[in-house]
Amino acid sequence: MEIWSEATIKNFRHTLLDWYDQEGRATLPWRINHDPYRVLVSEIMLQQTQVETVLPYYERFMQALPTVQDLARAPETQVLKLWEGLGYYSRARNLQKAARFVVDELHGHWPESADDLQELPGVGPYTSAAIASISFGEVVPAVDGNAYRVFSRLLKIDADIAQTKSRKIFYDAILPIVDPARPGDFNQAIMDLGSSYMTAKNPDSEGSPVRAFNAAYLDGVEAAYPVKTKKQKPVKQLFMATVSEDAGRLLFERRPDSGLLAGFWTFPLEEIQSIDEIVGEQLHIKPIVHVFTHRRWEIWLVKRAISLAENYDYLSPADWQQRALPTVQHKLLDALEDLQ
Ligand code: ADE
Repeated sequence: MEIWSEATIKNFRHTLLDWYDQEGRATLPWRINHDPYRVLVSEIMLQQTQVETVLPYYERFMQALPTVQDLARAPETQVLKLWEGLGYYSRARNLQKAARFVVDELHGHWPESADDLQELPGVGPYTSAAIASISFGEVVPAVDGNAYRVFSRLLKIDADIAQTKSRKIFYDAILPIVDPARPGDFNQAIMDLGSSYMTAKNPDSEGSPVRAFNAAYLDGVEAAYPVKTKKQKPVKQLFMATVSEDAGRLLFERRPDSGLLAGFWTFPLEEIQSIDEIVGEQLHIKPIVHVFTHRRWEIWLVKRAISLAENYDYLSPADWQQRALPTVQHKLLDALEDLQ
């Protein structure tokens, strides 16, 4: 791993922030002001979702719920509706819990350090550092996938980013480089580098403003960084989804309060071990596939009678359109519609 001199560090900050000031995305809506609520919402939305996808959701969310008090008081159904399509709905639920914590427990006073911000539900080491640096000027590195990628190449850090313990190695390596005068801009400039010149695939290191600092590139070994061992493949599960119709309404199941898609309404889903259990009954020739982080669901629609359970309900289109349905259920409805 490279160790930079004080002079190199100063030079790097200068180069990075000059580029950010001239070419950075200063107009992103969460960069227009540094209100911690606006920054929190943006960082939670951006956790698993790209900037381009987030933008319309962010604007809509801010228009509907412009302050942390608005979010704290909103019905959960409204929050989920605003989130519909972004996926990973626990993010939305935690975001509202965080707003309630700030409003009810802290009387509207935000924690200002990365350490204290981690008290908020859904706010981990990365998000807390992003908010602390952007909104409150704390000198901490925000270590996300971009920072891993950018600094593993700049400094030739060999730590395996698939391992949790590597976080501290990166944090310690980046901390002395963060610009103490502009920590929030520094962190966001690294994010911009990571999504422009220093991408995962086909980086443009030659054209990058920090090319002279990129040790991996200059040594011709950039493709080896970041070091990352293979992720486990998602585990495959087969499901039968029962399609049961009654006077234009369809049968839905409210899923249990814990586990995947907790509390959401879907067609009744029953796990099967093999397609043999339903062969001949399924309505289509290819399963509907939905991939979560650790699970790959292959779902077969089946028309059959089913005995009612407490958490089942027949819903009319008007009923289900009012609720935030998870993406997988939208896929099932689309597939069903294609059959008709
Ligand atoms: N990804 C995560 N946080 C971001 C931010 N503040 N700006 C741009 N991309 C990001």
